[in-house]
Amino acid sequence: MAKDKKIFVCSECGYESAKYWGKCPDCGSWNTFSEFSKKELEIVNHKQNIFTPKITNLNDIDTNEEIRFSTKISELDRVLGGGIVPSSIVLVGGQPGIGKSTLLTQSAYNVSLEDKKVLYASSEESLTQLKLRLDRLGLKGGNILVLSNTNIEQIIESAKENKIDLLIIDSIQTVKSENIPSAPGTITQVRECTNTLMNFAKATNTSIFLVGHITKQGTIAGPKTIEHMVDTVMYFENEANSDLRILRLSKNRFGSSEEIGVFEMTNKGLECINNPSKLLLSQMESRSYGSVICALMEGNRSMLVEIQALAMQSSFQVPRRVSTGFDYSRFVLILAVIEKMTNVKLFQTDVYLNVVGGIKVKETASDLAVACAVISSILKKEIPKDTIIIGEVGLCGEIRNVNNIYKRIKDARSMGFTKAIIPKYTSENEQIETLGMEVIKVSSLKQTIFHLFNK
Ligand code: TYD
Ligand code: MG
Repeated sequence: MAKDKKIFVCSECGYESAKYWGKCPDCGSWNTFSEFSKKELEIVNHKQNIFTPKITNLNDIDTNEEIRFSTKISELDRVLGGGIVPSSIVLVGGQPGIGKSTLLTQSAYNVSLEDKKVLYASSEESLTQLKLRLDRLGLKGGNILVLSNTNIEQIIESAKENKIDLLIIDSIQTVKSENIPSAPGTITQVRECTNTLMNFAKATNTSIFLVGHITKQGTIAGPKTIEHMVDTVMYFENEANSDLRILRLSKNRFGSSEEIGVFEMTNKGLECINNPSKLLLSQMESRSYGSVICALMEGNRSMLVEIQALAMQSSFQVPRRVSTGFDYSRFVLILAVIEKMTNVKLFQTDVYLNVVGGIKVKETASDLAVACAVISSILKKEIPKDTIIIGEVGLCGEIRNVNNIYKRIKDARSMGFTKAIIPKYTSENEQIETLGMEVIKVSSLKQTIFHLFNK
């Protein structure tokens, strides 16, 4: 008889390997490999006749009617690409306690008011806990059906019986399929349950939200293991001690995957923040040296963020560089450019960088703002608080163009900014002139420093 082969699988991302790894070569997580037999990993062959496939001519499919339906939560709708698409599966990932159940309860309530049937299947919390959350959120008169069950086949059976339009599974790591002997939360179970749900969604036109916990425990499969199966993947993020929650897409088959949604966790649940800049810049009066405002693009919308730097004489052999919310290697690179291309010296200086509000900056458009914040802190000279700074810093100290300059400046103007420092070579000159803002065009870091600090 052939020997059953052993396979090691990463519980974070699902990477499979013939040997054990301490650190996953794919996603970089530590101690996440567990051993499986090949048989265990095979998804069970279903008796495929549950949902009989039907052949249709593409021409017969009507797309004229508005098929998406709204969650009435503007930020969530935008992230979804305009609402929930029937028969789609959306994965909502995040750390425990971040607000996934709260967001989905609020959506379920809104959708249930719109003549749609909603089933909230909770395998984590009891029905009393669900009701308590609903009461706490102050949501009355909704029409949500609830089910506390961990058996995926039974959940699907109930959804089918009640002709549900929107099914919420909270969470995918606590449900279990009868077809597989392993415990809930293991990779095989999570994949099998998602697969079953996917077949169900496509066959019956039901939309499904899946909750997936991000966890560091090697025994529980992370949401990444099912990312390839679902239509949309979004992660809920926040920074420690902040009430701000950011819903970030990592995949969307039905819309732009660049959008983000911004929420604030209040004592009445999650509230949409339509203008995040307002919240992030609310303590503007107290700005001093080391602080710079930059306009970033998040999806199709611009957002003003405050970047702060603190530079001080180092008491270490090797000076410290700490960066929060900004890529560390890019930060070190910018410091090197400052050192080499300007008269500002940093080799005996500790430099700390922080992006206010727990935002994670990914765009190179913030390079110049980072450089100016550092230099402002070293020189102890303030940057005028009505100024925004945009531009990418090149290795030769040149300031390179970035996209959407017009849009960024326009939004900054509506927030009361009167002056913008931007790259010299931008293609949007004519549009920018119509804004009536004071615009300073710079081509090098040196020139920017001279303009701002007379140095
Ligand atoms: P929850 O949605 O249960 O998190 P998850 O499902 O991601 O684990 O949210 C839990 C946290 O949210 C908890 O710490 C309490 C807080 N919360 C509020 O601040 N306001 C509210 O109205 C609700 C319902 C929860
Ligand atoms: Mg929850």
